[in-house]
Amino acid sequence: MNRRRRIYEGKAKVLYEGPEPGTLIQHFKDDATAFNAKKHAIIEGKGALNNRISEFIFVRLGEIGVPTHFIKRLNMREQLIREVEIIPIEVVMRNVAAGSLSTRLGLEEGTPLPRSIIEFYYKSDALNDPMVSEEHITAFGWAAPAELDEIMQLALRVNDFLVGLFLGIGVRLVDFKVEFGRLWENEQMRIVLADEISPDCCRLWDISTADKLDKDRFRRDLGGLLEAYQEIARRLGVLPESRPPKGMGPVLVASNSPNGKPN
Ligand code: TMP
Repeated sequence: MNRRRRIYEGKAKVLYEGPEPGTLIQHFKDDATAFNAKKHAIIEGKGALNNRISEFIFVRLGEIGVPTHFIKRLNMREQLIREVEIIPIEVVMRNVAAGSLSTRLGLEEGTPLPRSIIEFYYKSDALNDPMVSEEHITAFGWAAPAELDEIMQLALRVNDFLVGLFLGIGVRLVDFKVEFGRLWENEQMRIVLADEISPDCCRLWDISTADKLDKDRFRRDLGGLLEAYQEIARRLGVLPESRPPKGMGPVLVASNSPNGKPN
């Protein structure tokens, strides 16, 4: 079916050549991986959910002025994006101790952090994405100092916005990972948010029950990954089935108005 030229295949997504120069099609697969793909499963429906959730978040971020690669969703699994040069750094924002931070510093998971913390990991499967500092990033030329400043400012804005967005649907944004790219327009270069933001790359805990609604369900063999992603999509209002089926919406009923006619 896919006769398009495949540009890149990652663990959870494929990038195809887009319909116009400077565009790509980002296809969300159902593959779930963890621990540098040592653990792998196919979870039917995950790709479609991440496509919807990431679309919703990128559109909202665009509305508050965060530049992104997103153009539009094309279908259940695919979105049209601008082609960018990915900066080989995973930017992790943390609000609450969990995961590798808890392990590294001996912090109990769930401990609120004194302030939001930003971390950088060098994107290299061969090296297992090692943690790096700003010094490494600029010394090795992965990003220029001005680019890194821009990346940090954007990551903080994304974090501030997403903390509020998720709070509004009863979810605690513990941490998340984002990626950025260089977008050229005419002779100008801008840093834009790229990749995806979905429960695959966030930790999302229900505010009242502390249930995990993210990929830790897969990493930690908790089960119920699809249901968790569906719950996030439902609360964000992007689960297609969340709309009332035809004929099940609000029903207009005639009321007794003084003139005997329905209001
Ligand atoms: P960590 O606690 O394992 O370092 O993960 C921090 C955040 O980054 C968490 O929300 C999960 C996300 N993440 C990815 O998106 N991809 C990865 O490869 C890893 C290790 C973490």
